[in-house]
Amino acid sequence: MAVEIKRISEPELKQQNEYSQKVNNLLQSRYSGKPLACVVTYGCQQNIADSERIKGMLSEMGYAFCEERTQANLIIFNTCAVREHAEDRVFGNVGALKKYKLSHPDTIIALCGCMMQQEHIAKKIKQSFSFVDLVFGTHVVHRLPELLYKALTGKRRVFERPDIDGVIAEGIPVKRDEENRAWLPIMYGCNNFCSYCVVPYVRGRERSRRVDDIVREFKDLVSDGCKEITLLGQNVNSYGKDLEPKVTFAELLKMLNDLDGDFRIRFMTSHPKDCTKELLETMASCDKVATHLHLPFQSGNDRVLKAMNRQYTREKYLSLINYARELMGDNLSVTSDIIVGFPGETYEEFQDTLSLVEEIKATSLFTFIYSPRVGTPAAEMDDPIAYEEKSKWMRELLAVQERISGEQMALHKGKTFKCFVYGKGKQGDNYLAARTDGNLIIEFEGDDGLIGTFQNIKVTEPLTYVMLGELERTEK
Ligand code: 5AD
Ligand code: SF4
Repeated sequence: MAVEIKRISEPELKQQNEYSQKVNNLLQSRYSGKPLACVVTYGCQQNIADSERIKGMLSEMGYAFCEERTQANLIIFNTCAVREHAEDRVFGNVGALKKYKLSHPDTIIALCGCMMQQEHIAKKIKQSFSFVDLVFGTHVVHRLPELLYKALTGKRRVFERPDIDGVIAEGIPVKRDEENRAWLPIMYGCNNFCSYCVVPYVRGRERSRRVDDIVREFKDLVSDGCKEITLLGQNVNSYGKDLEPKVTFAELLKMLNDLDGDFRIRFMTSHPKDCTKELLETMASCDKVATHLHLPFQSGNDRVLKAMNRQYTREKYLSLINYARELMGDNLSVTSDIIVGFPGETYEEFQDTLSLVEEIKATSLFTFIYSPRVGTPAAEMDDPIAYEEKSKWMRELLAVQERISGEQMALHKGKTFKCFVYGKGKQGDNYLAARTDGNLIIEFEGDDGLIGTFQNIKVTEPLTYVMLGELERTEK
């Protein structure tokens, strides 16, 4: 299969800038002040990053932003297709806009993101949600100015969702949600085709941004005062395989680590099949790279892993975790994703997942009951276990992890962590919240002026998901 990844050219971007200006002029003629846009984001960090680009473009087109849908002149839902629950929420929330659109016919309602890339969903929107004005897929986000212009001026609804391998668009304006923390996509798409997952179908083939483009964006973030930067990709370990000359993810990390400034680098997600010793060694040796490894294992049973098309075994996964712990010791924090009730999984096989959870001692887990996705191989497999039974297994898993998380937290009592103070805490009025290298939250009493700085904080009382602490000494 020949893969064609397109880099959006300067003239194409220029054309979008022209559309942006046209929308701007149009809005000025229609509204006395700035019209309001409400962008609602579902799903993962990649979607959050896409929404930040959508807001960047909207801002250039002359929109201001609001949280309330019922105040907006433009409503955009950036959707997620990874599980049924996410889809149901989108349909529920879009359905709820029908009445609003009747009384506010000039408000534009737009849907984008992973769900819209699926044929059966687009068909349903076309047929049953006639009040939706604009639908666009994951590969045309950079063309928002043009698509919005058409929706604002044309008589017909606009559907633009080409089924292609993917594009890379640089130079799109970004309006970030947070000042101190940023999401930085380093690659898009996924080639792994895990048998349960819809992502490779809706996000296209793996494609890496050029090193120069990433470094430029990273430096801009640091000079804007951003302190925690998370590098994003569905499988960051295969970063750079498609670049010429080739570059590994570990090499990219080293380059970013060597840049000047006081910042911390995080990354997600790593796939165990591509996680190399070189990467773990790089994590251990680079002082600005957080010692947090999010390494989803999905199941602890080799037969299920094979049926999931994960391409590693339980033993390989454990050897990676053991090596990472050898290198980083107690500083390492492991988190993982798990699917409960994959088609055909037996209770005995699920017990292997539980025993792996016991072995790896993760700080926290993201756990999901299997959700069939249209078009994936797993959706065609026999799935005899009832949902209620799977929910019982899930409760068993959560109880085990809650105990382990508690035990892990208890080990930290009396320890001091270098933390990034990111905002106000929830324990009381004068509490601040800070994040450790391992992505744990410590709340402590302190002055608001500390927000946005790194501080050493000593843990006084570990609770289950949060720790209480006190400021040890101020760093410059
Ligand atoms: N059902 C349940 N969970 C899923 N995930 C991906 N696809 C599905 C599905 N069909 C989970 C995986 C993945 C995380 C982002 O979502 O655990 O790592
Ligand atoms: Fe989905 Fe697997 Fe790709 Fe992750 S690696 S996005 S689970 S196909």
